[in-house]
Amino acid sequence: MDLRMSIRCPHLLLFVTSIVFTATASMKRQAYFNRTAYLPCPNTKAQNISLSELVVFWQDQNKLVLYEHYLGTEKPDNVNSKYLGRTSFDRETWALRLHNVQIKDMGSYDCFIQRKPPTGSIILQQTETELSVIANFSKPEIEPAQNITRNSGINLTCSSKQGYPKPKKMYFLITNSTNKYGDNMQISQDNVTELFSVSISLSHSFPDGVYNMTVECFLETESITISSKPYNIALPEPQPFQKNPIEIGASIIIVVVFISVASMVATKIYYKKRNQRNQRSRPRRTTRSVGVLERGSSAGQESINLQEFEPQIASAEPHAE
Ligand SMILES: *[C@@H]1O[C@H](CO)[C@@H](O)[C@H](O)[C@H]1NC(C)=O
Ligand SMILES: *[C@@H]1O[C@H](CO)[C@@H](O)[C@H](O)[C@H]1NC(C)=O
Ligand SMILES: *[C@@H]1O[C@H](CO)[C@@H](O)[C@H](O)[C@H]1NC(C)=O
Ligand SMILES: *[C@@H]1O[C@H](CO)[C@@H](O)[C@H](O)[C@H]1NC(C)=O
Ligand SMILES: *[C@@H]1O[C@H](CO)[C@@H](O)[C@H](O)[C@H]1NC(C)=O
Ligand SMILES: *[C@@H]1O[C@H](CO)[C@@H](O)[C@H](O)[C@H]1NC(C)=O
Ligand SMILES: *[C@@H]1O[C@H](CO)[C@@H](O)[C@H](O)[C@H]1NC(C)=O
Repeated sequence: MDLRMSIRCPHLLLFVTSIVFTATASMKRQAYFNRTAYLPCPNTKAQNISLSELVVFWQDQNKLVLYEHYLGTEKPDNVNSKYLGRTSFDRETWALRLHNVQIKDMGSYDCFIQRKPPTGSIILQQTETELSVIANFSKPEIEPAQNITRNSGINLTCSSKQGYPKPKKMYFLITNSTNKYGDNMQISQDNVTELFSVSISLSHSFPDGVYNMTVECFLETESITISSKPYNIALPEPQPFQKNPIEIGASIIIVVVFISVASMVATKIYYKKRNQRNQRSRPRRTTRSVGVLERGSSAGQESINLQEFEPQIASAEPHAE
């Protein structure tokens, strides 16, 4: 039967078949990666029997022996090298501690309690334990993938490390938005520890008029959801006019002063030029023919033009009259 196959220890094999009448109890246990797993071996049927009369041992699903307590003492002979130095027996609870649990330790284990009377041996009890191993993912961390400016927008990554089993999903939440961003979860598995690491990235533009955003990242596993610290992004706000009356006042004063200075200068230049012109045109006027001067207006420039058109005007005069 099954039991016969499952027992490898040579000294146990001989009489097993004849006296098996024990049903196998089944249990589930969970352990954290790199911590200690407890593989129980309830001794309900052997509680009045001294350990020195019993053989207690554990096998994994490949029938490799983890530990053997043989008639009162530890017996490492049959223990597989894989488990040497990794186990300890708790005499109080009859549980085997498996230290430094790895992901590959997941699976089923059997504990046997065997009585060794002077003749033969009897399996008193068998307990099967299904061991699962988990590892808590690290708290997700948000990091900028590049400098954040209004032009480049937001570009973040969020990552979490060394968990087991695979997480269900990972996403970003932006303040005041119910949208979950995270359809690009990247999962990698460490080829030694078999633990998973995950990351997602977020590319998002800054909506117009928004200068502040808070982003959070969530990792959802089968048992819990872990959130990152909120990540605040602030863009420098442009200085709006209304917000700084002193600056507005200062700039108005500057503009007013500038305008008045400029108009003063312009007025001065204008009068200066006019004076210069007047001075230049006065001597000319004196040299011109009296006839032109009488005909033209008082302005100097017009008088010059008139002088050029004089022949036409003179010829047109008769028609006009
Ligand atoms: C396992 O735990 C020990 C201490 O308890 C620690 O030094 C070691 O880094 C851990 N290993 C891993 C892979 O987490
Ligand atoms: C163990 O001994 C106690 C009394 O000494 C008895 O009541 C109990 O039934 C015994 N248990 C077994 C499994 O024989
Ligand atoms: C794993 O996370 C759970 C829930 O937050 C916590 O209760 C437990 O102590 C953690 N275990 C380890 C080994 O960090
Ligand atoms: C932008 O990135 C460069 C280098 O990548 C860094 O030196 C600089 O401090 C960053 N600027 C800001 C505002 O983060
Ligand atoms: C975000 O950053 C990554 C890595 O730096 C880059 O490949 C990607 O093009 C960036 N996305 C945007 C929208 O700028
Ligand atoms: C988010 O909403 C709250 C109240 O609903 C509001 O006070 C806050 O300004 C909003 N933040 C952003 C960035 O829109
Ligand atoms: C694990 O992966 C690294 C590279 O990613 C490789 O160099 C190494 O040989 C691998 N180890 C095993 C045990 O596969």
